[in-house]
Amino acid sequence: MPTPAAAVPSPARVLVVGGGGRENALAWALARCGGVEQVWVAPGNGGTLELAGCRQLAIPESDHAALLAACREHAIELVVVGPEAPLAAGLADQLRAAGLPVFGPGADGAQLEASKQWAKALMVEAAIPTAGYWPACSREQALAALEAQGKPLVVKADGLAAGKGVTVAETLEEARAAIEEVFDGRFGSAGASLVLEERTHGPEVSVFALSDGQRLVLLPPAQDHKRIGEGDTGPNTGGMGAYAPAPLLDATGLEQVRQQVLEPTLRALQERGIDYRGVIYAGLMLTESGPSVIEFNCRFGDPECETLMPLLGPELAAVLLACAQGRLDQAPELSIAPHCSACVIAAAAGYPGEIRKGDPIRSGLVPSDDLQLFHAGTRRQADGTCLTSGGRVLAVVAQADDFDAAFTRAYAGLDQVSFEGITFRRDIGHQVRSR
Ligand code: AMP
Ligand code: GLY
Repeated sequence: MPTPAAAVPSPARVLVVGGGGRENALAWALARCGGVEQVWVAPGNGGTLELAGCRQLAIPESDHAALLAACREHAIELVVVGPEAPLAAGLADQLRAAGLPVFGPGADGAQLEASKQWAKALMVEAAIPTAGYWPACSREQALAALEAQGKPLVVKADGLAAGKGVTVAETLEEARAAIEEVFDGRFGSAGASLVLEERTHGPEVSVFALSDGQRLVLLPPAQDHKRIGEGDTGPNTGGMGAYAPAPLLDATGLEQVRQQVLEPTLRALQERGIDYRGVIYAGLMLTESGPSVIEFNCRFGDPECETLMPLLGPELAAVLLACAQGRLDQAPELSIAPHCSACVIAAAAGYPGEIRKGDPIRSGLVPSDDLQLFHAGTRRQADGTCLTSGGRVLAVVAQADDFDAAFTRAYAGLDQVSFEGITFRRDIGHQVRSR
């Protein structure tokens, strides 16, 4: 009889690629896993060195050769790629070709996020519930499709547009203008083609599945808050706060998402010969007729990642390594704390437009088991001062037995932090709070 394969152990040395709040939270969570000795973060941010067990490498995520060299120098046993851009640019392929276990899909799988036309075609083929759409490769084709429908459609630039490529048009005129903007080059090569989509209605929820290419592990659903203003008003942002688990999807609803969305997606990827090892992020709208996929992403959401990481158990590093090695069946079970997690983003003045930068950050927040401060757009000067350097500056995250207590704790934490022009929403989690 064959002896059973040994369970996947924690990797001792991990490299996290990226420099946002998501990567700060990933590094924090991985460094807490038993068996992980050191987490390197490239390029990291002003908060990286505050995390126990973490070190920083001044290597941009686009410098694949330097990242590979760093993996060799530090005998890295697992690479976790945070953002979509290096994944779409083939970083995971290059590192895998050199023999490294990587959590993050190759450029083929990253098309789920990097090409809306590709993702929509996959969804239709696999009968995954999603809004009707019309692909267009030219201004004329797009305008003709719009006129033929005779109603405002959602306009989406095909490629990666840093979250700015979507216009939910209220009028035909607005939809026409959005089409012109895409083909006028506002999004560069991401706007060489586009997708027009039927508008759907309902609350949105993010579901994350960790994939080893053949199997899936689902995380608790999270709800993001995309608009800058309280009451969900004003322009879209990368996300101003989140909470998890979102009661919008109970266990039955999540199972439905697994069966109707995530498993068919994985099968469709396999049919295309894609060995997808990383996160499948389904951005869903819960419509009257059930969940409908708004978008797929090939990475963790930000700020959903900051919200979820404190709920995940110390098996996380082994589970991500098992995904990278294609053997989730041999991974320890990922434990998930039965708590409510609340995350509030502190952004710079002006965000999501032109932002104020370079202000010193003062913080009296003392992290504890149920309160975390994750850095995002920050940098540290030689003298140790931490300065604001991006749109979303910090994420304050707290856990408790209920959402009221979790948000009270998160906002109390945020009160301990200040910088000139600090901007945040006081109503994050209004869907689940009673006060
Ligand atoms: P995305 O960049 O694809 O996440 O889209 C940004 C936002 O546009 C989503 O979070 C939704 O709020 C909205 N959106 C995208 N597609 C649709 C759609 N088909 N109907 C209604 N709203 C949409
Ligand atoms: N929070 C939305 C995203 O990461 O795309």
